[in-house]
Amino acid sequence: MDPPNEHETPNNVKLRILALALLPLALARLEAAGSLINAYSRQSLSLNGKWNVIVDPYETGFYDYRYQPYDQGPDSTAAFFMDHRPADKSELVEYSFDRSPTLMVPGDWNSQAEKLFYYEGSVWYRRLFDIRASRPGNRLFVYFGAANYEADVYLNGKKLGRHVGGFTPFFFEITNAVKPVGNSLIVKVDNKRHREGVPTLNTDWWNYGGLTRDVMILEVPGTFITDYCVQLQKGSLDRVAGFVRLDGVRREQKGRVEIPELGTSVEFTTDSDGVARLDFALGKAQLWSPENPRLYDVAISCETDHVSERIGFRTIEVRGADILLNGRPIFLRGICLHEENPLRGGRARSAEDSRLLLGWARELNCNFLRLAHYPHNESMARIADEMGLLLWEEIPVYWTIQWDNPATLDNAKTQLGELIGRDRNRASVIFWSVANETPVSGPRTDFLRQLIGLARDLDPTRLVSSAMEVHADPSDARTLMVDDPLNEATDVTSFNEYIGWYVGQPDLCAQVKWVIKSPKPVLITEFGADALQGLHGDAAARFTEEFQEDLYRKNLQMLSKIPQLRGIAPWILVDFRSPKRTLPGIQDGWNRKGVIGENGTKKKAFFVLKQFYDGKTAMP
Ligand code: GCU
Repeated sequence: MDPPNEHETPNNVKLRILALALLPLALARLEAAGSLINAYSRQSLSLNGKWNVIVDPYETGFYDYRYQPYDQGPDSTAAFFMDHRPADKSELVEYSFDRSPTLMVPGDWNSQAEKLFYYEGSVWYRRLFDIRASRPGNRLFVYFGAANYEADVYLNGKKLGRHVGGFTPFFFEITNAVKPVGNSLIVKVDNKRHREGVPTLNTDWWNYGGLTRDVMILEVPGTFITDYCVQLQKGSLDRVAGFVRLDGVRREQKGRVEIPELGTSVEFTTDSDGVARLDFALGKAQLWSPENPRLYDVAISCETDHVSERIGFRTIEVRGADILLNGRPIFLRGICLHEENPLRGGRARSAEDSRLLLGWARELNCNFLRLAHYPHNESMARIADEMGLLLWEEIPVYWTIQWDNPATLDNAKTQLGELIGRDRNRASVIFWSVANETPVSGPRTDFLRQLIGLARDLDPTRLVSSAMEVHADPSDARTLMVDDPLNEATDVTSFNEYIGWYVGQPDLCAQVKWVIKSPKPVLITEFGADALQGLHGDAAARFTEEFQEDLYRKNLQMLSKIPQLRGIAPWILVDFRSPKRTLPGIQDGWNRKGVIGENGTKKKAFFVLKQFYDGKTAMP
């Protein structure tokens, strides 16, 4: 079996990952193909900015009138990806990017054009660029931080490939497809929802479409470092376990990992697959933690390439009912977050957006965030590394996915592999979550077990879980059962509960009896209530700040009685857009469960939660 060629389409790289995972687990465990890791450290040409766009609800530029896809037939100038211009006035051409409006990239289209606010369909993006590799033999890749949901990518009229999944990076090699001047890069982005999709048809968040994250051309040497992992071995406070992978013709090379501040310099040799295993003593390092988010410059070099980045070293594990960070019990003072900047509107996408959102969480005295329900942009985890915030990262296996559809499972596995491939060196990331609020059934549990297995194969160092649900004891509605069979496979017992909002009134909290069979740490991954910021009234009046405040108080009292409670992440830090929330004058397209309003103003519940967390930090 050949080692994976990094730069095939993510799907068949995925199949190779699975094949690879069957290799001696100790070896295969650490590898994830299909990554172009640490892309932002590479020499690059940014393609951000204005792109000409054609909104194409009928996909006229993709299918002919017999609904046959142009990119599977003979060349046709009618296909928008040809970017064809009429040779003269007699030639019939019914589209023109040159004369089309523009949209900003990165950015969703919904918040940029009123007409596109609710739009779900295809939009064609075109960007012209000139480029020449700075050194003979260097290779060029076009890299996308993400595109929601399906992206068909063309360069100079030729198809580069297709990517499915709205929240993870993808790339294509263009070394032999570019010309020095006048390249036409065209991407058809389609955010239509699909029953068999991941996510599926029904979600409680806005389906922002477009080239939502950075696009850049990366230049790398002929043989380059395409992937690596430099993290502490599970359960060890001083041994690094990892790998380095090269891509290119010169796969067998000598290389070195250096951590100058620690005086660590370790040699490695890659094998015929271009892979080297790392296993070395870290040296006298300060371990990364929320109190001390110490990062180190780590440089990896081989004969043909060199990359570096800031990495923190910490361990995370479970022992009995405790979650141990660097071997010491920790309580996760958390909050949930969607990837949206409510002040500007639209998908959050930049380091500034991440600092704004993580800054609010810091004001709450959080040490933990659940990034819901899909991979957020890369800057979120990098800034969490700097700020000392722990993260739960999740793929959008949300509510009622098509469990028995192999293509849906493959899609979910691809998204999980791409997420882990991107963030595996982030100290802040402690959880991979494979799903949210999925109804218990055999096919569902099998589907999720496979994802959990894949996450463990790709990364044995982190915790794996899912946001599960609870149900009432049929004989007594006040007795709540936490008995999801999936819990056997997860590292913690993590579940959502909405006592006082979807289930009864807040007073019910005092009467609830929890039946939690698992001895594992309990992590509450959601609770909460809607409140319109500035709406005040009686605490029994829904949608008032007083109702939300009261519900928080009573939920925190109730949950604090659970002996295995080791963390909570209420729903949610800030109000977010949802097409499911229509109540006029209150919701108006917003889910109002934030403890901060869409205008950035804190609600009363914010201070209840902060006080609770201040109490936690005051404890020895
Ligand atoms: C669910 C779900 C969230 C949703 C929230 C709500 O639990 O996981 O995505 O927004 O509840 O109803 O507000």
